[in-house]
Amino acid sequence: MAEEMLRFRGGRPLRGEVTVQGAKNSALPLLAAALLCSGESILHNVPRLTDTWTACRILNRLGCRCRAAGNTVTVQGGDVGGCEIPDADMRKMRSSIMFLGPLIGLKHACILTMPGGCELGPRPIDMHLDAVRRLGAQITESGGKIHCQAARLRGAKIALSYPSVGVTENVLTVAALAEGETVLTNAAREPEIADLARFLNACGARISGAGEGTVVIEGVSQLHAAEYTVMPDRIAAMTWLCAGAAAGGELCLRGAAPGDMESCLSVLEAAGCRLGVCGDRIYLSHSGVLRCPRRLLTMPYPGFPTDAQAPVTAMLATGSGTCVVEETVFESRYKHVGGLMQMGADIRVSGRIAVVNGVRALHGADVTAPDLRGGAALGIAAAAAEGESLLRGLHHIDRGYEDFAGVFNSLGAEVRRCPILSAGGGKMPAEPQSC
Ligand code: EPZ
Repeated sequence: MAEEMLRFRGGRPLRGEVTVQGAKNSALPLLAAALLCSGESILHNVPRLTDTWTACRILNRLGCRCRAAGNTVTVQGGDVGGCEIPDADMRKMRSSIMFLGPLIGLKHACILTMPGGCELGPRPIDMHLDAVRRLGAQITESGGKIHCQAARLRGAKIALSYPSVGVTENVLTVAALAEGETVLTNAAREPEIADLARFLNACGARISGAGEGTVVIEGVSQLHAAEYTVMPDRIAAMTWLCAGAAAGGELCLRGAAPGDMESCLSVLEAAGCRLGVCGDRIYLSHSGVLRCPRRLLTMPYPGFPTDAQAPVTAMLATGSGTCVVEETVFESRYKHVGGLMQMGADIRVSGRIAVVNGVRALHGADVTAPDLRGGAALGIAAAAAEGESLLRGLHHIDRGYEDFAGVFNSLGAEVRRCPILSAGGGKMPAEPQSC
């Protein structure tokens, strides 16, 4: 298929309703965890993303029958043939590492290579391997592959040196089927961890404390399938709120989880947006110039999420005043700044710090998404900017946003998806119905 880009005619206020998609960062670990469970698990509200199709392909290659219909995915788990994840699939996304825990839990074996995903600085897997070692796995490397094997899995006390999201999730899936009790301290507290634990508990696991710093897992001998609905995507929700704030207008998000978004909502409030929350709805209205808060620090949950840093940076670029942004989670997460500067933004980056001087208005430019959230940031800027923008590198955005252009258009923006080599209109890519 020809490579595509988005053509924005920016500068229009955004008005309307958005139904928040299911959370990518919950759906992917849930799909991997479903392989642990005997029988057919049914997952609803799964976002239609290229990362989802990669997870489904891995499941099918491992011998689990995985089918997608709309936003529902069924996985036949518990009877996995293989234990090796092909290198080509490993490289497509970071979440391929989420198969490590379930494969060790179920098969006591896993063969994998280094995962891919957004380039945000070094993203080692040392803590994943240390954690599964503590639960009984032996790890060797040969022929460029990592071989993990466990004669027996035993619960253990594990203290993480950093509250890693992925490591916490892998500990949950291995320990769920290990003998005895696992106590995990300094666990990540992101809401997606609690979502995974709720699914596993619905399948017969005994996990308590997920979403808090200490998680206790009592191993059980087997897990059964369950029907489960993926939680709302708090980062996609924040992306649309930032777009509404930057372009001005009035938005209503439906199907959101505002309770998981306190640190995000307080940044929007500090920037001068009017917000309202009612059940699963978030209302935002803004007109005039945004105020830059003085300082913004990304932190593990419940701090301000690193995944929302790029969308917020784009929003603040259209404001007034100066904000010092500090990225504490990843070493290199400002690759979107170059594109924002092409659109007239005034941002200086030095290591993990970005100083954003609001310029009030951006202008259109020809820019390329450097990664998933950086691409979303450039989309926000393009919708707010005066004139035409071209946004390339859509494969990054398609990994995490369901119908990115369609949502903008439903809010009154003018965005077309078109082939790069043609000046013509182009059309949205077909949705895979099964993988
Ligand atoms: C998850 O990645 C998310 N991905 C990321 O979302 C998110 O940015 C990140 O958590 C932090 O919130 C998924 O959930 C699929 P970590 P993960 O392990 O699990 C270091 C997005 O845009 N580390 O919490 O990979 C690591 O380098 C994506 O949706 C080690 O040093 O993040 C990083 O500095 C991008 N060794 C820090 O920990 C390890 O073995 C936090 O990473 C593992 C991690």
